[in-house]
Amino acid sequence: MTNQARVWDRFAKKYVASPIDDVAAYEHKLELTRKYLRPDMKVLEFGCGSGNTARLHAPHVASYTAMDISAKMIAHGRAVGPVPENMSFKVADFATAKVTPEAYDMILALSVLHVLPDPGAVVRKVAGALKPGGFFVSSTVPVGEFGLLSLIAPVGGALGVIPKVSRITTDDIRTMMTDAGLTIVEDWRAKPKSALFLIAQKSV
Ligand SMILES: C[S@@+](CC[C@H](N)C(=O)[O-])C[C@H]1O[C@@H](n2cnc3c(N)ncnc32)[C@H](O)[C@@H]1O
Repeated sequence: MTNQARVWDRFAKKYVASPIDDVAAYEHKLELTRKYLRPDMKVLEFGCGSGNTARLHAPHVASYTAMDISAKMIAHGRAVGPVPENMSFKVADFATAKVTPEAYDMILALSVLHVLPDPGAVVRKVAGALKPGGFFVSSTVPVGEFGLLSLIAPVGGALGVIPKVSRITTDDIRTMMTDAGLTIVEDWRAKPKSALFLIAQKSV
């Protein structure tokens, strides 16, 4: 098991039990995503946590894989309630998992890119795994824009006290998308300091 998986396992019970911070913003992100969902889509969400968002989107597509590096996160998530028939959970590290090129119509990473050691490499992997015209939906905390937190968080991460974070900014996140050949089609933040929600499309 990797260190990352171990840390997230430790946080799983508390994370799954914690309420959504900003319900209106969460619902707006669901709505923005839903504009792009079609019944024939094959979807992958990595860093799915409890799978709560996956449960809501899965009924609108053909198949939905909800992946997370933490077996405990998924175990707590399964215990939350029933799972749609076309949805499956998978314990895996997206960064190292074998992913078939051009396999998915949509990939989601919600509150995930900033907890990856090399988010740029992962965005490139996402772009390779999307079918032409496919969508990457992400919501990312620009940790690099949070003053003191951006300095303290990496120390806590290195000590294993909290999950590791990358000190990325909103500009970094947008550049990662365009560098990977994706075009941003939705760019939204609930408030000036909120997570950056993007939907980026691979060219047809
Ligand atoms: C901040 S939580 C977000 C969970 C959920 N997406 C949400 O919005 O509530 C980050 C999640 O990403 C998972 N994760 C971290 N690194 C990962 C990786 N390399 N591959 C798959 N999942 C990962 C963690 O286990 C954790 O469940």
